[in-house]
Amino acid sequence: MSATDTRLDWTVAASEPLHGAVRVPGDKSISHRALMFGALAEGETMVEHFLDGADCLATLHAVQALGAQVEQTGPHSLRIRGIGGAPLARPEAPLDLGNSGTSMRLFCGLLAGRDVALTLVGDASLSRRPMRRVLDPLAQMGAQIAATEAGTAPLHIQPVAELQGIRYELPMASAQVKSAVLLAGLTAAGTTTTIEPAPTRDHTERMLAAFGCEITHSEREASLRGGQRLQGTQIAVPADLSSAAFLLVAAAITPGSDLLLREVGVNPTRNGVLTALQRMGADIEWQQIRTLGGEPVADLRVRGGALSGIEIGAELVALAIDEIPALCIAAAAARGETVISGAEELKVKESDRLGAMVRGLRALGVEVEERADGMRIVGQGAWDGGEIDAAGDHRIAMCFAVAALRARQGVRIRDCANVQTSFPGFADLMRRLGFRIDESQA
Ligand code: S3P
Repeated sequence: MSATDTRLDWTVAASEPLHGAVRVPGDKSISHRALMFGALAEGETMVEHFLDGADCLATLHAVQALGAQVEQTGPHSLRIRGIGGAPLARPEAPLDLGNSGTSMRLFCGLLAGRDVALTLVGDASLSRRPMRRVLDPLAQMGAQIAATEAGTAPLHIQPVAELQGIRYELPMASAQVKSAVLLAGLTAAGTTTTIEPAPTRDHTERMLAAFGCEITHSEREASLRGGQRLQGTQIAVPADLSSAAFLLVAAAITPGSDLLLREVGVNPTRNGVLTALQRMGADIEWQQIRTLGGEPVADLRVRGGALSGIEIGAELVALAIDEIPALCIAAAAARGETVISGAEELKVKESDRLGAMVRGLRALGVEVEERADGMRIVGQGAWDGGEIDAAGDHRIAMCFAVAALRARQGVRIRDCANVQTSFPGFADLMRRLGFRIDESQA
């Protein structure tokens, strides 16, 4: 059954301050990459703390269809036997990537130069998302990938003789586009270089190095030589900062809360949510900073208190791209105004997240002004409550569950089933921490 077959609604009521210590599920971006790179590598790759959410399971089924052997060795552990130098299997059926933009865009780069003909499809949301941003640079490298006239999936990949390396300046800050070009570069002649307008998550660069690839990367530029083979390795996946963000905000806006989030990924190209919350005055203590699987992690202790509004511009948006919705809730609970700008990319996520946040905040009674590239939120501490449409977007659903902490009446959230794409067990975990969430199927 796909995540969207049954409509799931939540009713969430304000709860007591949050207490406890938890490790949220593994990082989604890193779990996808561990599967993809392990599938291509020579030999075995062992993955620990793999995120078994629907998005990463779509990647898992796809790599199996391409010939990788994946075996579950524990509740969140996998052994991948890579395809290495052998030819890829030729799946007859399209690869169904569900709701997962990361899978679709990275597979385009991964498969463009590998002598396969296949089709990539996704659910209704993924089939609306822009793919030209990936197909254009790949076409410059010589790839043949056909999309609909609107530049959306289904995508048909055709075999080509050889790709050529390129030097590509990305028009937007996107780790998915950067990753797709670098992954295509692995099979291309010569060198492939990406240059970004602002730094974005560098998980691909770090993990390719862990798989033995020679790759150079600085703040905005990454470069690799084609023709390199990956070697299987061991990857321990940090807890996902994007999932932890909901708990960070929940605890930060609820006085009396004291929560410890264990082994959270704090990669500096990804940790803008921590910068933003700390600038707002949130009490977040970084403990035991260390490295796990080539990625920096820390235990984050967050205590509830008063927050103040801040300005969030394009650079910080790129470092907190998936956490902006959660930051909107923190902003609404803060004193003073928060202005978010340079955030157009949020319009092309699993839903139009700018629109969804503006509508949702207004439905709760929060004053918010919609702008072309962001919004202005007037912080007001608490709000009434109301009904929200998550429109099948996991992060919007979780965001408004957190908003219920400051609602005088309850918050009803429609269409929450896709929370399992990134945070399976969210409702149960939140209940363990003191949240009151009732689920109903529609
Ligand atoms: C991701 C990159 C980001 C992010 C997405 C995961 C990745 O997308 O929003 O959830 O794993 O590379 P963009 O590259 O489109 O910004």
